[in-house]
Amino acid sequence: MCLPEVAEEVKRCCKCPLCKSRTNPVPGEGDPEAEVAFVGEAPGKEEDLEGRPFVGRAGRLLRSAIEELGFERYYITNAVKCRPPGNRTPFQSEVEACKPHLVRELLCVKPRLVVALGRTAARALLGFDAPIKELRGKMLPAKLGRAELKVLVTYHPAAVLRNPRLKDEFLRDLRKAYEVAYKQTSLARFVGKDEARKGSGGEGEEEEGAD
Ligand code: URA
Repeated sequence: MCLPEVAEEVKRCCKCPLCKSRTNPVPGEGDPEAEVAFVGEAPGKEEDLEGRPFVGRAGRLLRSAIEELGFERYYITNAVKCRPPGNRTPFQSEVEACKPHLVRELLCVKPRLVVALGRTAARALLGFDAPIKELRGKMLPAKLGRAELKVLVTYHPAAVLRNPRLKDEFLRDLRKAYEVAYKQTSLARFVGKDEARKGSGGEGEEEEGAD
């Protein structure tokens, strides 16, 4: 199963109550061979209306940073694919119900690096909860389904809009993601992934937690 099939599955999904209040489901979008996948929390109002991730104000901030920093092949998705009413934080039960979609997307794309945008995405990917201040800027290992990933945590762009003083750190984190994805060798390892990636280092080759 790969991205078009996952998108179909997301469109048909009614594993949590959000399918009843959504206008459109919002599967991920982007390059199927992306080096980097950005994972947000859940669609907001504009995403719900358009059926596309990160097309509102926060999305414009994220997409312009991605373009300015020169990411070429990237994928953008959310931990939860349907808008929670009033843009509330998704319940953990909703994140769990949606997780198989996220896992399948990442297994299709096989990114070298996943950027978790905010606490909900970080929790969905890492499997534990912690304040964003403790996680941001860190490169952390994660196992999601059959995929072993490297996850870089940063602020959600909506938090940067609310508090512009976070922007420098946010950009620094994205720059680090760029360095890791394009200038270093293997970080993510997937079952069945090519040998070059599999054999070239893995755990410990990246500085943990450094800025
Ligand atoms: N915030 C998110 O987390 N995701 C979107 O797609 C839009 C806003």
